[in-house]
Amino acid sequence: MTTVAFPLATLLAHLEATAALPPDRAWSLPPGFYWREDVWALEVERVFRKDWMCVGRVDQAPAPGDWLKVDILDEPLVVIRDEVGQLRALSRVCRHRAMDLLGEQASQTGNSRALLCPYHLWSYSLDGRLKATPQMQGHGSFDRGACRLPEFPLEVWQGFIFVALEPGAPLAPRLAPLERRLAGFDLPGWRIAGTVPWGEVPVNWKVALENGAEFYHHIGTHRNTLQPLWPAHRVQIESGADDEWFLGRMPVGPDAAVGIDGGYPVHPTSLPPVEGLSARQRSETVVAGLFPMFFFALGPDGAIWFDWRPTGPSSHHLDIRIIVPPASFEAEGFADGLDAMQAGVHSVQAEDAAANVAVQRGLRARAAEPGPLAPLESILVQLQRYLARRLVPARARDPVKVMRA
Ligand code: FES
Ligand SMILES: [Fe+2]
Repeated sequence: MTTVAFPLATLLAHLEATAALPPDRAWSLPPGFYWREDVWALEVERVFRKDWMCVGRVDQAPAPGDWLKVDILDEPLVVIRDEVGQLRALSRVCRHRAMDLLGEQASQTGNSRALLCPYHLWSYSLDGRLKATPQMQGHGSFDRGACRLPEFPLEVWQGFIFVALEPGAPLAPRLAPLERRLAGFDLPGWRIAGTVPWGEVPVNWKVALENGAEFYHHIGTHRNTLQPLWPAHRVQIESGADDEWFLGRMPVGPDAAVGIDGGYPVHPTSLPPVEGLSARQRSETVVAGLFPMFFFALGPDGAIWFDWRPTGPSSHHLDIRIIVPPASFEAEGFADGLDAMQAGVHSVQAEDAAANVAVQRGLRARAAEPGPLAPLESILVQLQRYLARRLVPARARDPVKVMRA
């Protein structure tokens, strides 16, 4: 049922060549990139184990002892706020015999004064140090003082918690240009107001990300929903020189606008707009993100964070979280406004989900081949360049070095 199995090296050479095409000659990736086990294995090693993954919001763990159960691929983690208020990403794997420290917790969040292993009751302080090992007296070669849960790099950006499984380049400098474009919203203090749980999706992570990050499909998939609200032809795309962050400005369409202010059409809202925004900011929704898989949409009254977690070559998990300014929780009509936002998110996501499943099926067909990309799909080309940098060894990427070798 599948296409001819090219060697992985051939596929990677195709990625290199595709990513290097000029914008007016851009093509999509070979279909095998979206379901092959060997591509996925390479992505795990060179992308998901190496780069920053967004795993939560600081408002999910505001007090000492608050924790979030987080799994990045096969690595069980707990993001926990320690006694002095510092957020840490600790391994959940017990140093005794590898039990999951939160293995008996059905909940994804909670509060604990210590991390207690349910298997033989070893306990750890909130910063990961081993505290107690019942009935282990007299062991001759075990250094309790040196024993602690492994800790992983963690950074907070605009209230979003990012974790990396391996130390690498810091996150903040990469996102600084994007942060400047979000000035005025005060996102760090916003809080999750609701979640639209979507669950396990039988679709490669890139199919979902590419769907979210291109605006061309507003005219098809969303012709009755988003196209009137954010007409595709009005979208403006911005990106970093390093291709790692991206941003799309989606001005409200004339038929959906609720007035004119400062020369800009006014974007409709379900909750009160953020105080102090410029007329331009009140006229648009911005989608923004960072590869590999951080992505959100920000409007004048709230943000929608796509909490995507890749789980396999043809699957990912999705929860969609609605984040709003703290003042909105007190606003008149908050519950109704939030309901309206959640209903809107659900119906648009249903359109995207149906398209994504159908695309994934198409990519498995023998007839599937790369296709030409439209200007409104330029973020897909950014993703290709990001993947080429990460997946293809530097030596093979630099023709001068190849000639010298
Ligand atoms: S595995 Fe955790 S105490 Fe034994
Ligand atoms: Fe969509």
